[in-house]
Amino acid sequence: MPGLPPQFLFGNMLQTGIVGRQIPMNILFLQLKDKLGDVFQFWFGPMRLIVVSRLEDVQHIFAHRHLYDQGDMFINILNLVNLNAIIGLKGPKFKRHTTIISPLFRRAKISAHADTIIDCTDKLLNRWRNYNNNPTDIHLNLIEQSQQLLLTILGFVAFDYDLQTLDEEDRSNENELTHALCINFKTSIFVARLPMFIARIYFVLNYEYRQARMTIDLYLQQMIDQELRETAVTRTQRRKTSLIASLVASLQEDELFEATKSEEHKKGLSQIEVMGEMLALLSAGYSPTSAALVWFMHLMSKYPQVQSKLKNELVEYNLQRLSVEQIDSLTYLDCVIRELFRFVPPIVGTLRTLTADDRLSATGVQLSKGDQVFIPFYNLGRDSRYWSGSFDLDQFHPERFLIESNMNSNKTASIAFGGGHRQCIGQDFARLELKAICVRLMQHMSFGDGGPDVNESGYKQTDTILPKHIGCTIKFD
Ligand code: HEM
Repeated sequence: MPGLPPQFLFGNMLQTGIVGRQIPMNILFLQLKDKLGDVFQFWFGPMRLIVVSRLEDVQHIFAHRHLYDQGDMFINILNLVNLNAIIGLKGPKFKRHTTIISPLFRRAKISAHADTIIDCTDKLLNRWRNYNNNPTDIHLNLIEQSQQLLLTILGFVAFDYDLQTLDEEDRSNENELTHALCINFKTSIFVARLPMFIARIYFVLNYEYRQARMTIDLYLQQMIDQELRETAVTRTQRRKTSLIASLVASLQEDELFEATKSEEHKKGLSQIEVMGEMLALLSAGYSPTSAALVWFMHLMSKYPQVQSKLKNELVEYNLQRLSVEQIDSLTYLDCVIRELFRFVPPIVGTLRTLTADDRLSATGVQLSKGDQVFIPFYNLGRDSRYWSGSFDLDQFHPERFLIESNMNSNKTASIAFGGGHRQCIGQDFARLELKAICVRLMQHMSFGDGGPDVNESGYKQTDTILPKHIGCTIKFD
């Protein structure tokens, strides 16, 4: 199989600049595809990944769930930080968790939270309005601002809890739970890049991280207890719209008895498992959505004609709050969000491990049990074989999704949320959340390009892909 020769311990990480030169993985995998073809191997440290960029093969992988299960590399990394997060589970335990977690993000449940999303966005807008007493033209750390907005929204929506990230810009007065969550996220991102044995030692020795986890567990426990104090009638009522109420309803009545059963026969979640899922939803939910929002701001500043069209679509509503149905009816906004996920999927790709030997349907590449295949989302979004219409794939053109005849083929190659049985369970919520925020921002203000020094195009790799630099001006209309 084509690929670069691996180096001791570092595999291809050092020579390609993922380690050391901070080369973003989306760009690297696109360059390697151009050089090595649709299927090539890449050594992620001592781990061999088979990178697959042919759409038909990707569809084959997603369609054969019994042959391609959750990636072992993901599971190993995730299990270092959380043994009870759906994303790091396989087999019967995954099934038990997913039957409880997936329904939390059903449309009816998440639609009930549109007002919360708008309230939080208004709070951020007010902060910007008052910023430095100069409401017309400002630069801000938009990555941090976006993360703060998304974290507070998720706190309210998932747990009816105010993480207060929009109250205080001064980090020294940060809410205790928020502070602990930030340490937890920061450490997890850092550790994901370390070889596994170093990562294990790092966690044991990192006192700050261990303290943060204790604080988080304490608060999550309090949230569960508070929910349990509600009357049975109230809790049943709340389950229709509240995620925490549904999670608490899944608690096993007799944990010791459930623990004696085989995994196939267990029902519900233990208290520790509920807490694991709560933390996992916070981390899985806020970071990619906030990256997408940062890209929205950056792209609006770079493509003023798109921003104007978006604003035009909203003119008839003036400053009115839009209902979920009204948000759903905004065709151009829908194209902008679709194009954003094509242009730059916030997560670089996904991984599957083979449970048996298999041959890829289009390229015919033979794979063996235990192989790990990596699907780089960015490559599919930039591959002219899979995109109809004459629009340049390196440019941001929401119009490519406007033309009905192109729509279906263009949707297939856009897989920012993954696919198959392990696709993102929060995608409907993320799309609604993003649209509601973008509408509110566009009703009140415009983003402008802060200039090449602060708003340079390009990519930066963290746990998500972010703009290399983002420095926008903000003008209230
Ligand atoms: C723009 C926002 C988001 C993006 C781009 C995104 C992307 C992804 C991707 C690529 C995966 C892996 C899919 C696969 O392997 O096929 C995933 C999994 C997951 N996402 Fe998201 N996600 C977003 C928002 C959210 C939100 C808001 C939540 C929940 C609050 C969430 C919860 C999850 C969970 C629990 C999984 C694991 C599913 C499993 O392992 O079966 N995500 N997401």
